[in-house]
Amino acid sequence: MRRSDWLTRREFGRAAALVGMGVLGPLSLLGRDRKKKLPPDTLPSPQVEARGFVGPDSLRSHAQAVGLFVGCAAVPELLDMPLDGGSSSDPYTQRVAGQAGILVAENSMKWSALRPSPSTYNFAPADKLFAFAARYGQLVRGHNLCWHEQLPAWFAQVATQDNARSLLEQHIQSVAGRYAGRVHSWDVVNEAVHIPDGRADGLRNSPWLQLLGPGYIEMAFQFAALADPAAKLTYNDYDIELDTPEQTAKRGQVLMLVRRLHARGVPIRAVGIQSHLQASGPQPGAGLKQFIRDLAAIDLEVYLTELDVNTHALPGGPDVQDAAVAAVYKNYLGLVLPEPNVKAVLTWGISDAHTWLNQSRQSWAVRPDGARQRPLPFDDMYLPTAAFFAMRDALDFSRMPIMPNDITAQPQAPVGDPYAPFAVPGSPVPGSPGTGNTPPTPPQL
Ligand code: G3I
Repeated sequence: MRRSDWLTRREFGRAAALVGMGVLGPLSLLGRDRKKKLPPDTLPSPQVEARGFVGPDSLRSHAQAVGLFVGCAAVPELLDMPLDGGSSSDPYTQRVAGQAGILVAENSMKWSALRPSPSTYNFAPADKLFAFAARYGQLVRGHNLCWHEQLPAWFAQVATQDNARSLLEQHIQSVAGRYAGRVHSWDVVNEAVHIPDGRADGLRNSPWLQLLGPGYIEMAFQFAALADPAAKLTYNDYDIELDTPEQTAKRGQVLMLVRRLHARGVPIRAVGIQSHLQASGPQPGAGLKQFIRDLAAIDLEVYLTELDVNTHALPGGPDVQDAAVAAVYKNYLGLVLPEPNVKAVLTWGISDAHTWLNQSRQSWAVRPDGARQRPLPFDDMYLPTAAFFAMRDALDFSRMPIMPNDITAQPQAPVGDPYAPFAVPGSPVPGSPGTGNTPPTPPQL
């Protein structure tokens, strides 16, 4: 038996408990019925050989077993989609296809990417992402419809108080309308709270606020609901994770904002907690947990939308970075995933080879030693980092498996195709009429 056929001590303990409850068969204790035939690792190495990470060992498979969605931000231009429908040998493509059950475009669905001019749209990269997701049975989040950043250069010249409402309406109709029925959730309004701007309501003094007043938020949600009634409409923000005075205050303003929207019958369904965390300094705690529960009290789901861990202020080599990053993943996901209204976690990228933290030249991203950051579940070589295993363990221990007896019966990736799609309950059948237009039905918890 290969070492990878054995369970870790933690997995053994969990399996033993489930055997005791009659949920799993005794073979589980040998790791045999969960790990039948491991698909080959595409990039073999001694450390990877010891623990599998594809097929049934992927993040996607482990998340599916507990009724959560796990995924990542992706760059459509980097995805390799062979025209014959066959497999790609590109490691970025393999990781995105094999590890993610839900995708979001890192940049391709922002105004600046979609709107080269006031009268033209560039949907090609976003269309490619939807085609990729349909091929691999993945959900798609939309990011975003209304944000103060990444507005096209022409916006400042064209937008006025008179036409801003129809600019916003037309954009949302065109974009959300184009992908209607195929989007799990839309970040309708992004980062609208910014306390330093000094307003009593905590709102950011954004171009949208200047043009339309604070009502722009409600307008955007109403336009989005008309354009895509099926998508879960989301308010998304950052720096609301910690219990520091600044982040506690911002989190309070976000809570008041979404409570106001909810009370007014605005069709908001979820809050996105971006989760750009730091390896050093304060960590998320009780205040965040309470926030998630406060959102549950008004029937809002929670998505961890942009998880990564910044090590710019952490001295030490790659091993030190990896250990610290993994510890943050473990503690953070251990804190929040057990909350029943938390439904999805997406990392902001899949591999350290493509992360904004290694692209930015800002002081809060660049390490003093010049080393690359390692914020994601896969490293520059597309091998799993300690954060991968921390994330997978956190998924395993987040809640009871949804259909325990079916864990071992889940479709397995055929040997030789390490990133074959997994069946997501309710996914459109490839090749059937309407494929790509029917949203996969999320599993019920
Ligand atoms: O498109 C140009 C390209 O033409 C040019 O060659 C290149 C040269 O640097 O720049 C390209 O644009 C960059 C774009 O990323 C695509 O790479 C922009 O300068 C750069 O500002 C932009 O950064 C993105 C940033 O949002 C602003 O949109 C990051 O990749 C992206 O990770 C980041 O994501 C945001 C979320 O949307 C919201 N939450 C915070 C998160 C991190 O800042």
